[in-house]
Amino acid sequence: PFYKSLIGLNQLEEKIRAHFKLKQVIVVAGDSDISPQTKRELGKAGSQVLGKMLRPNDVVAITGGSTLAQVANQLTAPAPLKTNLFVPARGGLGESLDYQANTLASTMAKRTGAHYRLLHVPDHLGEEAFASIMQEPTIREMVKVIRSARIVVHGIGEAAVMARRRKLDEKEIEEMAQEGALAEAFGFYFDKNGSVVHKNQTVGLHLEDIVNTEVVIGVAGGKSKAEAITAIMRFGHDDVLVTDEAAAHDIIAFI
Ligand code: F6P
Repeated sequence: PFYKSLIGLNQLEEKIRAHFKLKQVIVVAGDSDISPQTKRELGKAGSQVLGKMLRPNDVVAITGGSTLAQVANQLTAPAPLKTNLFVPARGGLGESLDYQANTLASTMAKRTGAHYRLLHVPDHLGEEAFASIMQEPTIREMVKVIRSARIVVHGIGEAAVMARRRKLDEKEIEEMAQEGALAEAFGFYFDKNGSVVHKNQTVGLHLEDIVNTEVVIGVAGGKSKAEAITAIMRFGHDDVLVTDEAAAHDIIAFI
């Protein structure tokens, strides 16, 4: 049975890889919605992919969330990554401290002997505050560093779940639903075809940065996220997807 299930996972990987023309797909056994062990395995697989992709002097931008926390907490390096820099991909997006991109960037750097820099900008700034904060030289410089990342590692969430987690007001949640928002990644909301339907004004990576980033690694699993993951793969700028069996089965049903 073990042998058989391995072949099953390989087939899932290859089907998804070929359909979305990704460089690599990794599917771990199980369903992270119901198994903490699977979620850990997902994070571990994500950390291993990142470890393999890393080159000297790389800047790595990462998003937050509970899945990326599993990546961060299991990242290791054979020798100190003295020339690497970990940064958050975006400003604060309303995650709890353990799951904030800032926290995860510092965890990754500390675990691997790399450097980190943080971005201290709250989410949901009004237009005026946003414009004035963007004039700050230290913020401008940091955004420039973030936008220079060669590697982006990101989570994927369901739009409604993320909107509530970020405490968007009911009116905005309703608008988003009407626009067909179904998935969230990098602080942007996407419909089922992978088109951006809703943008939050936050500081950090722009959409065109993700389009142009050399290596984009998505890490997300659980049956509940299958449709959201499919939407982000349709957006079409990921190179590597790390997911789990339950999500993979349903992704294949969607394509
Ligand atoms: O808020 C950061 C973020 O990476 C989102 O972009 C994504 O939708 C979410 O976290 C995923 O969170 P989790 O791994 O906890 O489901």
